[in-house]
Amino acid sequence: MANRRKFIGTLGAGILGSMAIPAFARDFENINPSLPSPELLQTNEEEYWKLIRQQFPLTTDRIYLNNGTMGPSPFPVIDAVHRWMRDADEQGNYGGWESTAEKLAVFVNADKEEIALTHNVTDGINIVAWGLPLKKGDEVIMTTHEHVGNVGPWMNRARLDGIVVKAFSPAPTAAETLQRINDLITKKTRAIAVPHIPCTQGQILPAKEICKLAKDKGLFSFIDGAHGPGQLQLDLHDMGCDFYASCTHKWLMGPKGTGFLYVRKDMLDTLQALMVGGGGTADWNMATQPPHFDGYTKDAHRYYYGTQNRALYKGVDAAIDFVNGIGQDVVEKRIRGMAKYFQDELLKLEGKIDMLTPTEEKSRGAVVGFRIKAKSNTDFYTLAAEAKIRIRSVPENGLNSLRVSTHIYNNKDEVDKLLELVRSVA
Ligand SMILES: Cc1ncc(COP(=O)(O)O)c(C=O)c1O
Repeated sequence: MANRRKFIGTLGAGILGSMAIPAFARDFENINPSLPSPELLQTNEEEYWKLIRQQFPLTTDRIYLNNGTMGPSPFPVIDAVHRWMRDADEQGNYGGWESTAEKLAVFVNADKEEIALTHNVTDGINIVAWGLPLKKGDEVIMTTHEHVGNVGPWMNRARLDGIVVKAFSPAPTAAETLQRINDLITKKTRAIAVPHIPCTQGQILPAKEICKLAKDKGLFSFIDGAHGPGQLQLDLHDMGCDFYASCTHKWLMGPKGTGFLYVRKDMLDTLQALMVGGGGTADWNMATQPPHFDGYTKDAHRYYYGTQNRALYKGVDAAIDFVNGIGQDVVEKRIRGMAKYFQDELLKLEGKIDMLTPTEEKSRGAVVGFRIKAKSNTDFYTLAAEAKIRIRSVPENGLNSLRVSTHIYNNKDEVDKLLELVRSVA
C-alpha cells in the first residue's frame, strides 16, 4: 500500500483528482519492491519465480514468448523512468546520464571510457560500419542469418562505398561455424561483423573464438550483441572483440530506445566518429581565427552527443540492478533451462519438426527456432496468436520459420501450452 501511495503520488494529484486511476497505476498496488530471497530459490524454486513474475505488469491475458524482439520491463524500471522523467520536468534538471555508461561498463566488464550510450543496437552498428577505415573492394564477413539492423549499415556502405559483403550460414557446432568463417577469409577481408546470437534461431556463436580468429588474421571484429546482455553473462574484455553493439530493451528488460556501443580502448582513434556534437567534442572556440576545434573527447563519448533522455538511462540503471539482484547467472540458468525443455520436447516430434537451433550445449541459449512441416510459419503464427500466445515468425533471409524466446517472467505451464498447440498441428 505504501508503495502504491508512493507511485500514485508521483502521478500527480491534479490528474488523479479529475480522472479514474489508469489501469497501469492500479497495477502498482501489487508491487513488492524487494526481490524474493535467494534462499527461496533453493527451497521452492517455482514459488521464487512466481514472485519474480509479480514484478512485471506484463498482461496475463496472453502468453508472451517474444522477448527476442522486446523485453517487457519490471515495475522498478518503469518506476525509475517515471520518477526521473518527473524530476526533469519538476526541477528543471536534465543531465546525468554518463553514470549509466559506467554502470553498463561494469555489467559487461569493460572500462567506462569504452562505452558509448546509443538508442538501440542499429545506432551502434551504424557507428562501426561507417567509422571503420574501409575502402572499395574491402570484404566484410557476415552471416546469412542477419537482422536488418546489421544488414542495413553494412549493405548501405557496400552500396555507397563499394565494400563487399560475404555471408556464411552458421553451422550446428561452434567449431564448424568457425571453420566456415575461416574459409571465407581472403586477402581482401578487413572485418568480421556477426551477431553474438542471431535473431533467427538464437544460436550462440563462438564470439570469443571468432574475435581471436579476427585478431590472428589482422581483421576488425564487430559483434552485433542485441541478444547478449541479460541473456548471458558478458565479459567483453575476455571476449576480445573490437566493437560490440547492443541494447538494453531486450534481455536486460530496460526502457525501450536505450542501447550502448563498446569500442575497445585501443580502437578509439581507429573508429572515426562521424556524427559529433555536445559532450563528444574536446576543446573548441568559434570566436578565434580560424575557429578552433580540438577534435573528440578521449573516450567513447565521442560517438554520442547532445541531450539524452536521462529518465530512460535511470531505467537502464534500474534494469541492471534488477538483473543483478537476481543474479545474471541465475537468470541465465533459468531461461536456458526453459528453452532447453521446449527444444527437447519439440525434438520428440521426430520427423514432424525441422529444428534450426543447434543442440550443442554451448551453442543453445534462451531462444528456439524451428519449422513445423505440416504448417507454414505464417499459419502457425496466426494460430498461436488466436490461442493468445505471442511468438515470432521469421520470414527473414528466406528462413520462413518460427522463434520462441523464454525469459524469467515465463513458466513451464506457458511453454507447455505452446507445446500442446504445436503437437496438435504437427
Ligand atoms: C540480432 C539483432 N541485431 C540488431 C537488432 C536491431 O535492434 P534495434 O532495434 O535495437 O536497433 C535486432 C533486433 O531485434 C536483432 O535481433
